[in-house]
Amino acid sequence: MAKAGITSNERSWTIDVISEINTYSSKRRRAIHRAGGEHTISGGQALFPDVLLFGDPEGALVLQGWELKMPDTPVGDPDLLANAMAKAERLGLKSFLVWNVREAVLHCRTDEGHFLPSLQYGPIDITTRQDVSRGKEQWLGLLYKILADLNDFFEKRPQVGIALPDVLQDSLFAEFLTVFTPSYAASLDSARRKKSQFRAEVDIWWAANRQDHPELNATQALARGNILNWLNKFIFAHCLKPFRTEALQIDSITTETTVSQAQRVLGVITEKCDFMAVFQTMLGQEYVDPKTWRSLGDFNLLLANARLEAVAPPLLARTLAAVVDRARRKTAGQFATPLPLAELLARITVEDINGIILDPCCGTGTIIRTVYDWKCQEAIEPCDAVGQIWASDKFTFPLQLATMALANPAAIGVPLRIFCCDALELTAGRPIRLTDPNTGRPITAKLPAVDCIVSNLPFVRFETLGRPHAGGEKLGVNQAFEEPDLDSKSDLFAHLINSFPKVLRAGARVGVIVANSWMGTQWGLQFRRQLDRNFHLRSVIASASVRWFSPAAVVANILVLEQRDSQKASEEEETNFISISEPMEQWEQSSGGIKELASQIVLGKASSGNRLQIHSLAKRQTTELESLGLQWTALFADLGFIQIVKPFLIPAKAYFNINHGERRGWDDLFFPPSEAQIEPQFTRPVLKNSRQLRKLTATADAKAFCCSLSLDELGKQGCRAALKWIKRFEHQVNDVGRPLPDALHRPNCRWYEMKPSTMADLAISLNPDSRLCVFRLAERAFVNQRLIRFTVRSKTRVDMDLLHALMNSSLGMFFIEASGFGRGLGVLDLNATKLAKGFHILNPDNLDAPAAANVKHAFATLLQREADELPQELARADRQAFDACVAKAFGFSEAEPQIRSTLEFLYKMRKAARP
Ligand SMILES: C[S@@+](CC[C@H](N)C(=O)[O-])C[C@H]1O[C@@H](n2cnc3c(N)ncnc32)[C@H](O)[C@@H]1O
Repeated sequence: MAKAGITSNERSWTIDVISEINTYSSKRRRAIHRAGGEHTISGGQALFPDVLLFGDPEGALVLQGWELKMPDTPVGDPDLLANAMAKAERLGLKSFLVWNVREAVLHCRTDEGHFLPSLQYGPIDITTRQDVSRGKEQWLGLLYKILADLNDFFEKRPQVGIALPDVLQDSLFAEFLTVFTPSYAASLDSARRKKSQFRAEVDIWWAANRQDHPELNATQALARGNILNWLNKFIFAHCLKPFRTEALQIDSITTETTVSQAQRVLGVITEKCDFMAVFQTMLGQEYVDPKTWRSLGDFNLLLANARLEAVAPPLLARTLAAVVDRARRKTAGQFATPLPLAELLARITVEDINGIILDPCCGTGTIIRTVYDWKCQEAIEPCDAVGQIWASDKFTFPLQLATMALANPAAIGVPLRIFCCDALELTAGRPIRLTDPNTGRPITAKLPAVDCIVSNLPFVRFETLGRPHAGGEKLGVNQAFEEPDLDSKSDLFAHLINSFPKVLRAGARVGVIVANSWMGTQWGLQFRRQLDRNFHLRSVIASASVRWFSPAAVVANILVLEQRDSQKASEEEETNFISISEPMEQWEQSSGGIKELASQIVLGKASSGNRLQIHSLAKRQTTELESLGLQWTALFADLGFIQIVKPFLIPAKAYFNINHGERRGWDDLFFPPSEAQIEPQFTRPVLKNSRQLRKLTATADAKAFCCSLSLDELGKQGCRAALKWIKRFEHQVNDVGRPLPDALHRPNCRWYEMKPSTMADLAISLNPDSRLCVFRLAERAFVNQRLIRFTVRSKTRVDMDLLHALMNSSLGMFFIEASGFGRGLGVLDLNATKLAKGFHILNPDNLDAPAAANVKHAFATLLQREADELPQELARADRQAFDACVAKAFGFSEAEPQIRSTLEFLYKMRKAARP
């Protein structure tokens, strides 16, 4: 940023020049309307030009910046030019003028983006600093010539000016953040080390916000937040000036004002004009370093020069909206609600547009602003619309932007119902302290029972919340853990939804964006049960295309709920499972836009076109599908074929013990090298490395130590090698110092024993990716933990060739896909416990001998080759022949095409969510 400050000679000459330009311009109605730039007189490092020319009476058009120097600095001085150029670029200006009293040069930006000299003025007969005051007439003459030329220049090129909203451009914010975050963060670090209270506050704030800023540390994130917060405070106060004379006081904050003086000025403005959330002191605000603070002051003076008090309200509203948008993109982190998602959420949730809407985790206010705009489009008066919207957040940082988002000049005078509160503590009737913007006096309003909640709930994992911070307490959500009806491992959003009935009127709607964790986790089961007590789950919506929060490793869902009177849901109550295949970026542009997408969802009917699929399931159907081991992620697919194949299914547990691959916890002991020469009766095959498995059969690649005899028995039988092997480990300790006999102890099992009953006949990868295979071990073997083992139950007679074939059919692959959960990394998460409970397979007993022989024959070709990635696999002729043979053998040929297309749909949906 800028290098040199200015000397007192320069200052007084600059003041003279500005005042002469203003006198000159006031007598003419030409392009240059006035000049500003008083900020440079305060010295220090300047970020903005010494003189700014403004182009319209409202000051909203910035035309050009000038750099002024004394005659001892040549107008071609490289530092001077670099500085002038940087300032022009910072404001997005297309020309600048450098003037050292003696001569001046106008530089204009070419189409290629270079600044080149285009007009030269002087030289006049002024060569020293002392000549400047003596030679006023001479430099005035030059000034008038420059102004006359520039007026012509601007009048011929009206597009050269930059409107105020564009001056506050993205790159200006970005530059502030890049240049000042390190010094501000260093200052916060130093304060953090010195003050225990500040340290604790930062830790609490960071625990709840770190997932939003994976690339930053706590103080960097806090410094960024504070820099933007200061910029916003200044911009907002200036935008208030046309409406509130008290806000004019913001002009008094210069580069020489201290932080506490500035806070006092803001305090007075808040007292008189409200907008507490915008102006209040933020965490770490007082630790702003001097360099950053001076530049923030400089920025405030730039705004003062722009005289926003004269700007027309619509332009101000546009400026504010642009600022909020830019600041949001810079601060809100990876879970800020994308606009299309906010609009869709509002349109599919809100029943009565006139109703009271609450966003209890409003963050930067994207959703409430969307709701506000929608209400206004529906001819609700801005003042009424503001009155119908309530919003809160646990943290003050985002509330600043939320307030700015809703502060439409058209509705100034109506108290904004935006406040700071933990959403878990919200209850209808709770008194909320607001400010009457007309009198500046505090008023207390009761939070009403609302008609609707719309929110993008925090994506905070249980682990984050549960971890005690330095003070030993939980992070402010302890009350959540006392609720008896939810698993303590539940994500925060489950607790939040559980608490919503306290603020809802009967029959109210809730539309929330949440992580899809509730569909695949153990706690999710309990959450769904709890949800069912209070709400009718009307819709669950997921993306069948790229993730909505693409930088974050989270797959999101929308849930639309309706509060139900009765705790008991009817078995016929329907839920729509909706997958949107159109990428979010295209929703707006597609014909019909977001409105049409929303209408289809509200009506539960997908019209022709490929934007979305809707499958409606009654509660009893969902229960039935769950009993077949299907996870909720599978319910987005067309499952009509299930009724046809159901008679041929049997739980896999009827044939198999299903569990993780065996892991005894000390590989050195259990996987001995061949040199150990252990007696063969104490070794069994093991499949240690499963990564490279490509064929449907697998061969063990090592030997495992498998001994169920006691040391005495081994001694008596003279099994010296086995005995010696065990003794070798008897006195060893594990990584945390526990003796191995103790660490490897298990009930009914010797510490050195791997039970042969845990060997596998078949295995499935715990996290299948592109290939969905059931592997058959050439010889029963132990398998590693990356596999789920299927071990034929003892005393069960099975035709393994047939079972293996059936489990690898398209229906078998469908059951694998539908039993898992895609977390967002593209792979499928399978869970051995769930498979043991509910995984279903085709029942081989339904086939007579000839049908079974046909199936095995058709399967033989698949055994010869490597399995392919699913789409290619399904396209292969031998696979199609095999699947057709299986379907024919059972008698469900008519369902086979649908089985394949459903399988492919679920697979693609999982894969699309990959980063
Ligand atoms: C995903 S963000 C919301 C994003 C917002 N719609 C936007 O576009 O900026 C979730 C918000 O929940 C807030 N939050 C976290 N825990 C909360 C709690 N217990 N009560 C209320 N708000 C909470 C966070 O501060 C964050 O602003």
